[in-house]
Amino acid sequence: MKILIAGGAGYIGSHTVQELILDGYDVTVFDNFSTGKRDFLPSVRIFEGDLMDKKSIEEAFDKTDFDAVLHFASLIEVGESYANPSKYYTHNLFSSLNLLDVMLKKGVNKFIFSSSAAVYGNPETSPISEDHPLRPINPYGQTKYFVEKILEDYDRAHDLKFISLRYFNASGADPEGQRGEVHNPETHLIPNILLFLLDKRDSFFLYGTDFPTPDGSAVRDYIHVKDLAKAHVLALKRLSLKPESEFINLGTNKGYSVLEIIDKVEQITGKPVRYTTSPRRLGDPPVLLASKDKAERLLGWTLEYSDIETIIQTAWNWHSKL
Ligand SMILES: NC(=O)c1ccc[n+]([C@@H]2O[C@H](COP(=O)([O-])OP(=O)(O)OC[C@H]3O[C@@H](n4cnc5c(N)ncnc54)[C@H](O)[C@@H]3O)[C@@H](O)[C@H]2O)c1
Repeated sequence: MKILIAGGAGYIGSHTVQELILDGYDVTVFDNFSTGKRDFLPSVRIFEGDLMDKKSIEEAFDKTDFDAVLHFASLIEVGESYANPSKYYTHNLFSSLNLLDVMLKKGVNKFIFSSSAAVYGNPETSPISEDHPLRPINPYGQTKYFVEKILEDYDRAHDLKFISLRYFNASGADPEGQRGEVHNPETHLIPNILLFLLDKRDSFFLYGTDFPTPDGSAVRDYIHVKDLAKAHVLALKRLSLKPESEFINLGTNKGYSVLEIIDKVEQITGKPVRYTTSPRRLGDPPVLLASKDKAERLLGWTLEYSDIETIIQTAWNWHSKL
C-alpha cells in the first residue's frame, strides 16, 4: 500500500513512518519542515510542500497513486492557541480541508487523523471513553473537534472512511535513539524536566499544586510514542479490512501526577529535580485518563513500551545524546 504521511517529519509522524516501513508499506512524507526534522526520517520518499498551498498537495498526488493518507501536520501549542486563535483556526482547519479535498478529488478515501484528548475538555467521568461529551476548552482542542466534525460530514457526503486517533500525552523516544521529542517552545512535562536537568533550561515550573488529586499536582496519561506509532499501522489495517469510520482513544488508562513523574525522573537519572511552583495554567484539567478498551477491541492494540520507566529512560537517552 502507498501511504502519504502529512507531517511525517515531526515527533509522532516520524516514529510512525518508521513503523510503517518496518511493516512493508510504501511511504511518502509530505512536510514543510516548519517543526519537523529530516534527520528523523529513515530512507523514504520526501515531498517538501505546505498543506496551506493546495497546489503543492496536488503535485504530490500527481506523482503517486496513494491508497491512504495519515495527517499529523498541525499547530500544537495550547497556550499559543489562546493567545492567537486565528492562527490556529486558519492553519489547522484549512490545512486539513485542503488535504481532504485533494485526496477525494484524486479518489483516495482512507484517512487517519491525529486528534487529541483536548476534544473532551474537562472530563465528567474517568477514564474517558470515546462516547464522553466533546466540549473542548481551548482553541487548539476546538480545531481538533471541528476537523472531526468535518470528517463525519465528508463520510456522509463523499464516503470518506477515517479513523480519528485521540492521543493522550505522547512521550518517550525511539528506543534505537534515531528520533525523539523536539518542540520549540517545549511545553510538555517530561522533556522540560529533562532539558532542565541537562542545563538547557534555566528553571522548571510545576504548574498547580492545589488540584483535587492525591498530591495536588495534575495527573496525566503518558503513552509511549512507539506504541502510538504502532496503533497507526493497526488503524490502517483495520480501515483496509473494514472500511468504517471510528474515533479511538490512544492512552494507557493509568495516570501519573507531575510529582510522581518528578520522582521517577530522579530515580532514573540519579539527579535531583529542583522546581518552582506556579499557579495552574488556564484550562488544565486535574486528571486526564483514557479508556483504552476500544483501541484494544477494534485494533488489537497492546502496549509494549508505555510503562513509565521505559518512557522516561528512552526520553533521557534521547535528550542526553542531543
Ligand atoms: N505530542 C503530543 O503529545 C500530541 C498529543 C495529542 C495530539 N497530538 C497531535 O499529533 C500531531 C503530531 O504532533 P507532534 O508532537 O508530532 O508535532 P510536530 O510539530 O513534531 O509535528 C508536526 C509536523 O507537521 C509539519 N507541518 C506543520 N504544518 C505543516 C503544513 N502546513 N504543511 C506541511 N507540514 C506541516 C511539521 O513540520 C512537523 O513535521 C499533531 O496533529 C498534534 O496535534 C500530539
